[in-house]
Amino acid sequence: MPPSSSSPATQSPPSFTLAAALRFALPTSLLLLLFYLLYSPKLLTTTTTNCHDLTASKPEQPVNHGYDLELKHIAFCIAASANLWDSRKEYIKLWWRPGETRGAVWLDHQVEIDYDDDRRNLPEIHISEDTSRFPYTNRQGHRSAIRISRIVSEALRLGLADVRWFVMGDDDTVFVVENVVRVLSRYDDKEFYYVGSSSESHLQNIFFSYSMAYGGGGFAISYPLAMELEKMQDRCIKRYPGLYGSDDRMQACMAELNVPLTKEPGFHQNDIYGNLLGLLSGHPVTPLVSLHHFDIIDPIFPGMERVESLKHLLESAKYDSASIIQQSICYDRKQEWSVLVSWGFAIQIMRGIISPRELESPTRTFINWYKVLDFTAYAFNTRPVAGHPCQQPFVFYVNSTKYDKSRRQIIGIYTYHDDPNPPCPWGIESPEKIHTIVVLKHEDPDRWQKAPRKDCCRVVPSSKEGIMYLWVGHCGQNEIIET
Ligand SMILES: *[C@@H]1O[C@H](CO)[C@@H](O)[C@H](O)[C@H]1NC(C)=O
Repeated sequence: MPPSSSSPATQSPPSFTLAAALRFALPTSLLLLLFYLLYSPKLLTTTTTNCHDLTASKPEQPVNHGYDLELKHIAFCIAASANLWDSRKEYIKLWWRPGETRGAVWLDHQVEIDYDDDRRNLPEIHISEDTSRFPYTNRQGHRSAIRISRIVSEALRLGLADVRWFVMGDDDTVFVVENVVRVLSRYDDKEFYYVGSSSESHLQNIFFSYSMAYGGGGFAISYPLAMELEKMQDRCIKRYPGLYGSDDRMQACMAELNVPLTKEPGFHQNDIYGNLLGLLSGHPVTPLVSLHHFDIIDPIFPGMERVESLKHLLESAKYDSASIIQQSICYDRKQEWSVLVSWGFAIQIMRGIISPRELESPTRTFINWYKVLDFTAYAFNTRPVAGHPCQQPFVFYVNSTKYDKSRRQIIGIYTYHDDPNPPCPWGIESPEKIHTIVVLKHEDPDRWQKAPRKDCCRVVPSSKEGIMYLWVGHCGQNEIIET
């Protein structure tokens, strides 16, 4: 949990300034107030952040939050290997923004950069320092773990100006960069922070540690902590020759530094196989920060290549990165259907009215790290995929998203995934008559500066055959999901 100091309130100007000003005669106080409003940088930032001018925020810029963090303050440190570089670099290109994102890739040895496209769209490449002097005794792992663990220290030694966070990731980690900023801006980068998340696999977390940030999901280390780590990391690594990977070595050093893991569940290691639909549709109410392990997970949109499918998801994220895959639940009472929205990704319609407490948890469309369909395998609640033909969801995947300037809203088109649902003898309307769902939503870049809450979802009456209209957004007064 974020510490209480992460509250944006701590960033507002000290109230005594205003109080003191108001004690002067009225004209003086007004002048002072005006001066303050015009020249206080903090107040100015707050004002811009709260401004809901949607036209001004295209293309989306990472916004300032509690700790005034911007993308340029983050150095991304990507661990890669030369032999997988040709395929893995495509994952990096998906999220890397030339001229905006900072940081570098660390490889074990030099690779050819043949294409102009690569030169322009990838971070600069560094070759890791030699680590052959370090002992490595783990029989299952690989000693490249030592090299990878030291990337943070090597990155620090590059001496990049104005860096507040180092964010580690693998070559197959895909970041939603605006959400990296949103999540890290909850924390004071002048303090020691180690931010990341566990594995989906309960057993993996037992073997490694629930206190460890998984490297593939990515994790962040604040600048002063990286300084402290750099001083002791080589000695620390020598004390743990038996550990498996780079991330457990990192955690061992964090433990020596007395720094616990600050858990942010938007970082996803994805230690699972199969279809991610259930996991993403049941995402916790927190920004999606990263995804990982795409070489072993099915493409997230059926019928697409892996890289293409991720590009398609990030396409929706361009319109409202803060809301990407966020869940909302509503019902079509006339038809007696339950509707589960994972914004920018997929919508599921199910026959019958299913309670939110059931719908909100992830369905096990995936299998666990040991390739078994086992409900005890996970570090969070899941629910089974419905076996009854009438209970199988009708899945609609996002087809395209656009922005309606005149109405200042985002219009998402979701189309039925052509995989016919089985016949059902229940006497209620079949969702198969719907071929398209249109979702209307306002951009909501500041949603994570407030208490976490799901968006409400409403079925908008429509006379168009085969098309369902949904509205998704802030819940109205007294608006709840009552079944
Ligand atoms: C979107 O829908 C059109 C028309 O049905 C189809 O040709 C296209 O392949 C779809 N695109 C995606 C990304 O699903």
